[in-house]
Amino acid sequence: MREVAVVGIGLTEFGEKWDTSFRNLFVEAGANALEDAGMSGDQIDEIFVGNMSGGRFVLQEHIGALIADYAGLTKNHIPATRVEAACASGGLAFRQAYATVASGMQDIVIAGGVEKMTDVGGSETTDALAGAADREWEGLVGATFPGLYAMIANDYMNKYGLTREQLAMVSVKNHRNGAKNPIAQFRKQISVEAVMRSTLVADPLRLLDCSPVTDGAAAVILCPMEMAREFTDTPVKVLASAQATDTISLHDRRDISTLDATVAAGKRAFQQAALTPKDIGMVEVHDCFTIAELCAIEDLGFCAKGEAGKLTEDGQTALDGSIPVNPSGGLKSCGHPVGATGIKQVAEIVEQLRGEATGRQVDAEIGMTHNVGGTGATVVCNILGV
Ligand code: COA
Repeated sequence: MREVAVVGIGLTEFGEKWDTSFRNLFVEAGANALEDAGMSGDQIDEIFVGNMSGGRFVLQEHIGALIADYAGLTKNHIPATRVEAACASGGLAFRQAYATVASGMQDIVIAGGVEKMTDVGGSETTDALAGAADREWEGLVGATFPGLYAMIANDYMNKYGLTREQLAMVSVKNHRNGAKNPIAQFRKQISVEAVMRSTLVADPLRLLDCSPVTDGAAAVILCPMEMAREFTDTPVKVLASAQATDTISLHDRRDISTLDATVAAGKRAFQQAALTPKDIGMVEVHDCFTIAELCAIEDLGFCAKGEAGKLTEDGQTALDGSIPVNPSGGLKSCGHPVGATGIKQVAEIVEQLRGEATGRQVDAEIGMTHNVGGTGATVVCNILGV
């Protein structure tokens, strides 16, 4: 296997993008990544695009070809593939691109992700997202994603004594970080009281515990480490890329408040990189709901089970804490265009490790991403370092 580096990153602003189309979102992110790497589209050998539900959200399938076409990448007829694993589609696109370069099959590969979720109404969005769970055993009996994560939250609170205020502190911290991120959907700080007073969505989760519905795209460019300095003075090395799978429905799990696929993907990633959680300087985790961030930092091994609420309350997950979690603002404040999120997480790590995350910069040389599909049926973890 060859060593692989990320040499370019590109993002769109996240939010409700009424004035731009699905395809143009990706083109904007891809063009930004090419500009960042100082290369032209003709140099790209292959492209992977993470997308969860173009068919439901914008009535568009065949997304690999569409994106390659509108990104001007069809001249050399390069391979272009859509990758889908619900909200982990972006993370998986990155893993496919990494494997393609590491194996020597291709040299320069784009891993991107795109989702345009706001062109349909709220109930259709919720129903499309429910397709990431088990439609027969969960969706058809009314389970939505907020509902499923509320079950996790109730189980966790009963087992570990997490307080409602501690849960709210996850959101407060992520909004504080997102307020400093120029691409974030919600660039505003909030208080614990505001979270506690926000509309109840699925008990105990309130509006400000939930990631929003978002349009956006992200792209990163990978190449062999030995070529990286042709494109950038600050290559960021991929130290690990690991994936794990679990049962699709929550009721089949051994323990619903521990995501075993997170535990497995995390362990695999640490093993590949020959590192432990203590070596990680920052982590972007999949906080689709506040409870998910707490489960993630425990299941990845940053603290013992049941301690993440206290860790958050003590400020240890803040930008200047012992393990900064979601400096980008996370899914909660930055937004969650589901197919793009896993790539945005990688882009955030790269920006941070290059020292370019103005206003929200953390002191780190190694960063990790954690991207979840569904309630934890697919998990992808990547570790990057300088
Ligand atoms: N955080 C903060 N503010 C939010 C928000 C969120 N998650 N979602 C909506 N808002 C704001 C909107 O900007 C709007 O503000 P405004 O009145 O000042 O313009 C207001 O709340 C109402 O927005 P609306 O779009 O009508 O909300 P909604 O009730 O239709 O949707 C949720 C709210 C929480 C149900 C929706 O965001 C949701 O389904 N989130 C979860 C998405 C999900 O499951 N993703 C996959 C996870 S695995």
